Amino acid sequence: MRKRIPLKNLTVGMYLIGLDKSWLETPFLRHRMLLTKDTQIEKLKTCGVQYVEIDTEKGLDVGRADEGTPSAARPEPNGQADRRPPIEAPAEPPPPARVPFEEELEVARKVYFDAKNIVESAMHEVRMGREINTEAAARVVDGMVDSVLRNVDALASLSRLKSFDEYTFFHSVNTAVLALGLGRNLEMDRKTLHCLGMGVLLHDIGKTKIPIDLLNKPARYTPDEFEMVKQHALRGAEILTATDGLLEEAVWPALQHHERMDGTGYPYGRKESELTLFGRLSSVVDIYDAVTSDRVYHKAMTSHAALQMLYDLGQKGHLDPPLVERFIHCIGVYPVGSCVLLDTGETGIVSQIYQERPLTPKLLLIRDANAKPIAHPLPIDLLDGAEAKKRTIAQVLDPAALGIKTDEYLGAELKVG
Ligand SMILES: [Fe+2]
Ligand SMILES: [Fe+2]
Repeated sequence: MRKRIPLKNLTVGMYLIGLDKSWLETPFLRHRMLLTKDTQIEKLKTCGVQYVEIDTEKGLDVGRADEGTPSAARPEPNGQADRRPPIEAPAEPPPPARVPFEEELEVARKVYFDAKNIVESAMHEVRMGREINTEAAARVVDGMVDSVLRNVDALASLSRLKSFDEYTFFHSVNTAVLALGLGRNLEMDRKTLHCLGMGVLLHDIGKTKIPIDLLNKPARYTPDEFEMVKQHALRGAEILTATDGLLEEAVWPALQHHERMDGTGYPYGRKESELTLFGRLSSVVDIYDAVTSDRVYHKAMTSHAALQMLYDLGQKGHLDPPLVERFIHCIGVYPVGSCVLLDTGETGIVSQIYQERPLTPKLLLIRDANAKPIAHPLPIDLLDGAEAKKRTIAQVLDPAALGIKTDEYLGAELKVG
């Protein structure tokens, strides 16, 4: 049974299901939880929460936890019973049924390119001084959320698609896809995922206010130039705040994706406690996609190196370590796009991962045991009975050092299908 109670009556052992403010304004990653420590209640107090909602079937009731006072008749300090209506839980449709990867990939591919087109047209509209079509963006994000809920691996595998010339469009879609995968892993509900997807898809919209030549400058920025580029976070937040049809939370990725937990980021140098979950999460996925992409000023890192870098940034206090750990879990041991050497001496590129069997992904074989390129890359599944006996992954390779362009192989595979 759902019950709305004042925070002061909340105790360890109760099962929390709602707050009188957005979860995103709290440091908690989970939307529903059994309270196991007093520090959790202290954190809610610090965030300014005054009333909470509990589920008495999953945890302690007020009566049991508080010296037998019947919860329904429990008086308020002023002698009045709390007659305010319970916090409205948003009507949540049931999650879509899970479907196999191959089936979802077709749908995911369409959603992916629709999203890329939406970002492109949103940026064009803003450059022309017109409004973003938030209804169209919301429809595409709905499609992305549904895809991630049906089979997270399909859309995630497409997040390796890159384009040197259309970097910002693909980067925006990839970060949104990665954010949704992480949000799903954090058990966000559909409404929160939708809001997160909208915000991350548009997180770099402020780049429309920065000269393109400066964004693409193939050399180090001067201090003045860097100050100009940094403006894109604040400009983006201004654009989105003035856009009709967006929730306030959808502005946070734009505003906070360059902030860092230790206050070393921009635009405001905000610290951990002042950053939202959307902001902290956006930083992780933004860095990952940026460093795994070829840019005018740097070559793409391997996924492995990028995950190591994120881990180090978490340890140094720049990023949120629990979020980084969750993200590494989502991306997997051999992320899509990894170049691997097999124990047979053959070389392959990971084309599909399965979160439930991270050591045996699907590969495209691109070089034979003598390192000779295979004319038509051969798809193999390492879990396939016969293949599993024949081949296992021995080592992760650096494709750049071997002159292998993984994205070209994957691009052909993922785009054409
Ligand atoms: Fe940015
Ligand atoms: Fe970005």
